[in-house]
Amino acid sequence: DEVMVAPLIRTTISDDRGDEPCYDGYPASELINKGYEIPHVIGLLWDKRLISKQEAEIIKRIMMLSADHGPCVSGAYATILAACAGIGLSQAVAAGLIMIGPRFGGAVTDAGRFFKYAVDNKMAVDEFLAYMKKNHGPVPGIGHRVKSLRNPDKRVKELVGYVKSLNIKTPCLDFALEVEKVTAVKKDNLILNVDGTMAAVLVDIGFPVDSLNGFFILSRTIGLIGHWVDQKRQESRLIRLFDYLVNYAAPKRREVPPLK
Ligand code: ACO
Ligand code: LMR
Repeated sequence: DEVMVAPLIRTTISDDRGDEPCYDGYPASELINKGYEIPHVIGLLWDKRLISKQEAEIIKRIMMLSADHGPCVSGAYATILAACAGIGLSQAVAAGLIMIGPRFGGAVTDAGRFFKYAVDNKMAVDEFLAYMKKNHGPVPGIGHRVKSLRNPDKRVKELVGYVKSLNIKTPCLDFALEVEKVTAVKKDNLILNVDGTMAAVLVDIGFPVDSLNGFFILSRTIGLIGHWVDQKRQESRLIRLFDYLVNYAAPKRREVPPLK
């Protein structure tokens, strides 16, 4: 007799029941031997799509440009702090990844969502900024703590220059650059940032909005692993903040009154 069992989960992306994994149906070894690369695997597993050579080159460049940004940013700093506390690789990297959110690195999805919304609804830049201010707050993908018109972010220039040199339509990127023209005049650090640039480009090449933060998370994981290994190799000591780095604004020491 046949027994029917309701499946516990349903997957639509991969299958490992043969002698090797298939990504959206394509055997991994065949992908390798036919010259496909990591960006193609991302395309298959995140969007169930065999992306073109040109799209793969764009993704490769996005990953190279966002793999690390030094030890001082929230993610790397958290991983370094953990490494110095003797925490293992996966947990220390997880600590860094937890920092990726609306202010640092994790603005890609929302930047893509809102730039796309503006383009789909044919909004003018001023209209978009008023809409964002009224309904959502800071525009994701705009603004940087240290980069500005006077201290431009070369990563952004590099990616924009490359994508604009290709023969493809880039409505989201064009809109994002128009937004920057207005915001950066208001305050010179309100530039189009790395999150916003990759978001616009990735929407323009058809990636689903919900996958977008994945591109920063994946790329920055390369850097976070590097920071953990670096601290480990140096046998770094436990980090404890120095008092002079803290503004102690709590009440001065005082006598505890008798218990009533
Ligand atoms: N849209 C509109 N106004 C903004 C934005 C924005 N994206 N960012 C800052 N402002 C305004 C603030 O309202 C504030 O105005 P006020 O002086 O009138 O009060 C002023 O600019 C300064 O804001 P701060 O938050 O102090 O600026 P800070 O340097 O701390 O911000 C940050 C940097 C967090 C990146 C900010 O610009 C932001 O939240 N941007 C949106 C999120 C984002 O894209 N993050 C990814 C950054 S890139 C990366 O992490 C790889
Ligand atoms: C980064 O790539 O980590 C950043 O742009 C954030 C920063 O503050 O440098």
